Amino acid sequence: MTKAINSKIIATGSYLPSKIISNFDLAKMVDTSDEWITERTGIKNRHIANKDQLTSDLAYEASIRALKNAGIKAENLDMIILASTTPDLTFPACATIIQHKINAINAFAFDVQAVCSGFIYALNIADNFIKTGQIKNALVIGAETMSRIIDWQDRNTCVLFGDGAGALILQASNDSSGIIASKLSSDGRLNKILKTTDGVSLSQKSGFITMEGKEVFKHAVEKMSKSVFDVLKIANLTTSDINFLVPHQANLRILNSVAEKLKLTSDQVIITIENHGNTSAASIALALDFANQNNKFKTQDIIVLEALGAGLTWGSIVLKW
Ligand code: ACO
Repeated sequence: MTKAINSKIIATGSYLPSKIISNFDLAKMVDTSDEWITERTGIKNRHIANKDQLTSDLAYEASIRALKNAGIKAENLDMIILASTTPDLTFPACATIIQHKINAINAFAFDVQAVCSGFIYALNIADNFIKTGQIKNALVIGAETMSRIIDWQDRNTCVLFGDGAGALILQASNDSSGIIASKLSSDGRLNKILKTTDGVSLSQKSGFITMEGKEVFKHAVEKMSKSVFDVLKIANLTTSDINFLVPHQANLRILNSVAEKLKLTSDQVIITIENHGNTSAASIALALDFANQNNKFKTQDIIVLEALGAGLTWGSIVLKW
């Protein structure tokens, strides 16, 4: 009998632009304070891309680090998926721009748009391509220049977001470790609580982020925790099997509330939000790389990834490291 193909994360990489805007800098721009932002969100700093740095540039840096850490050449990639809400252009897909920059001549490339859940969606797609035997090596990237769609006069939103990129290499494997189960969800009835003011079809502009903060908070806690329970059930596991949770870095209070529902201790939750704020589709990939580079994970650890974003979209992935 042929052994089932598994898909395994063999390396990660990430990149944050060097320019930092602190809470103190923001307090000079809008009516806010370090105390308010820290207490309500857990964020201290966010990294902001230079004017000439595009999403594909951030993604390029994260991707070459992931490739180097994996010890594979770009020409060995079969597929590139970019999760992003802030692509360089409306078209072509930003993933093809990245493909050209890294010279991945044998890959096919496309973008996924599920806002803050984008990385979970992209990883699930890559997992399915590998498990059906269609490809062997996938580069999965989350990259954003959220600073370009922020209204810097709006204190309700400008304190929350930042720019950055994270990437991983997912590879076909015969070992027992790798992605065990995934659960994706969305509910378009909630598409108005978090959205941009404009769009290319609506008004030929990209617009700015608007959000009903309290509504998003409530749905985020409820839906992300249910999603984790659902994915664990599919995997035949329970919360006591989890070694680490790598959540979308939206807001420290959301992260803590979900962790509490899952009965996890604070050292089981990978938290990087303080340093880069909410980087949307990049955030799980950034947190994963941070944990990986700091040798947090051991072989066979059970790791759960979870996110919620505009749409609303949400989802979870459980994997064995
Ligand atoms: N500084 C100071 N005061 C502020 C700021 C700010 N940056 N922003 C809002 N306020 C004020 C409001 O104007 C309001 O003042 P008012 O009472 O005079 O009207 C007051 O603070 C309280 O505002 P609330 O909206 O009630 O504050 P809340 O405690 O809900 O916190 C927050 C706001 C942090 C946005 C919270 O609702 C939240 O975290 N929501 C989740 C949103 C989120 O994470 N979005 C990210 C995208 S979605 C995702 O990634 C899951």
